[in-house]
Amino acid sequence: MLLWFCFVATLAGVSGQSVVAFSKGLVAHAHLTKGEIVTYNKDITNINAIFTSDGKFQVQIPGIYSFHFYSLSRSDAEIWLEFYKNEDYLVSIYAYTASDWADAGNTVILELQAGDTIYVKAADDYDNSLYGAAGEIYTTFTGELLFSEASGSVNPVAFSAGLTHNMSLPNGGPVLFDKVLTNAGNGYDASSGDFVAPADGTYMIHYNSLSELGREMFLDLYLNDQYINSAYGEADHTWADAGNSAILVLKQGDRLRIRSRAGENVVVYGGPDEIYCTFSGVMLSSQNTETSGPNANEIQAFSAVLTQNQNNGGSTTKVVWDKVYSNKGGNFNATTGIFTAKVAGVYVFNYHGLAQQDEEVWMELYHNYMYVNSLYGHAPHGWAGGSNSAALKLAVGDTVYIDMKSHNTKIYGRADEIYASFSGYLLAPMGGTSIVG
Ligand SMILES: *[C@@H]1O[C@H](CO)[C@@H](O)[C@H](O)[C@H]1NC(C)=O
Ligand SMILES: *[C@@H]1O[C@H](CO)[C@@H](O)[C@H](O)[C@H]1NC(C)=O
Repeated sequence: MLLWFCFVATLAGVSGQSVVAFSKGLVAHAHLTKGEIVTYNKDITNINAIFTSDGKFQVQIPGIYSFHFYSLSRSDAEIWLEFYKNEDYLVSIYAYTASDWADAGNTVILELQAGDTIYVKAADDYDNSLYGAAGEIYTTFTGELLFSEASGSVNPVAFSAGLTHNMSLPNGGPVLFDKVLTNAGNGYDASSGDFVAPADGTYMIHYNSLSELGREMFLDLYLNDQYINSAYGEADHTWADAGNSAILVLKQGDRLRIRSRAGENVVVYGGPDEIYCTFSGVMLSSQNTETSGPNANEIQAFSAVLTQNQNNGGSTTKVVWDKVYSNKGGNFNATTGIFTAKVAGVYVFNYHGLAQQDEEVWMELYHNYMYVNSLYGHAPHGWAGGSNSAALKLAVGDTVYIDMKSHNTKIYGRADEIYASFSGYLLAPMGGTSIVG
């Protein structure tokens, strides 16, 4: 206990606020058959994150945390992973594509106490074949402390909800995420499926879903009556997973909703112990800004998307995003697709993509010239996508961008069918030398 108090005091003293963020990746294939905890063998980023010897993230600082986990199956193999808090099951991911690789992921935002453990495990007695290689990191686990309870200076707004049953959504109806995991600020209403912003601000939003067996999953994120982006999945004889995210500047009273695409016969899958469909969000606050200097109290956050196809082989291998939803702090250059940090600190990035029909989407996240991780999607005759995320510690001037793997990447996009997106925000300023010992 004494050690724990010293630890917290040190963190608070040096940085002015507590910083906890990690991204782990799998750099060797893993075959899990007995419900094992996934042990990620590469630390992409680790700022004050403590893991137990059996691979569980152990909370030291009480507060609101966000977690993202993604995986790609090996060819013709399945992944079925479950996300736990202590002994409690929370959400799952599933992926399988016959004779191909398949991607799945999820995001959860939780209010946690010191001593809580968080981990990703294989479903019991189930063959899991996760893809991993040094330059091909698809299987990742990222977590970040959004608000520490101790600072107490803000009223946090954060929500996370999941769907515990199958749901048929034939007419553009809203997904009614019925299991509310977090609702700080009471913005989410399970009876309507709506999140209504309790205050003006910049919000990070995530959603993920799984189709019913052999059915179509085609969901749209709406801000009031404005279409933002979509997630799509459908495959013969299997369930299809997809998600998306966005960072949007909202006014108090603005409504966010996940609904099915009008005119499509959408059926999504869920059960009490099989929650794949989730909807989460958080309002960035003064805790996520620098307290002094030229960027004092300014949120640093951007979100950009593709409204048209983009193929590798043009003048650049970087994805050049053609529509920008937010660019607080002006770090993102839409002409080049490159994010350049104006504030030193820990940032969190999320990206998603869908391939054109029967083509591949293969995207890589870069920090300066260093490879971070990837997404991959391909479905014979169909459309398939992928997603990934990472927490990264950036110095002023560091760049972050999405590269198309030097390969036949063909990304799908339309003005009213936006699947490819790239978002990032400053989690915590962190100037000077690292405080990690
Ligand atoms: C949900 O769909 C699955 C098939 O994907 C089915 O096995 C299950 O019985 C359905 N659940 C309910 C409650 O209808
Ligand atoms: C974006 O990058 C282009 C190409 O390097 C440059 O000409 C332009 O000035 C940049 N825009 C901003 C706002 O910095």
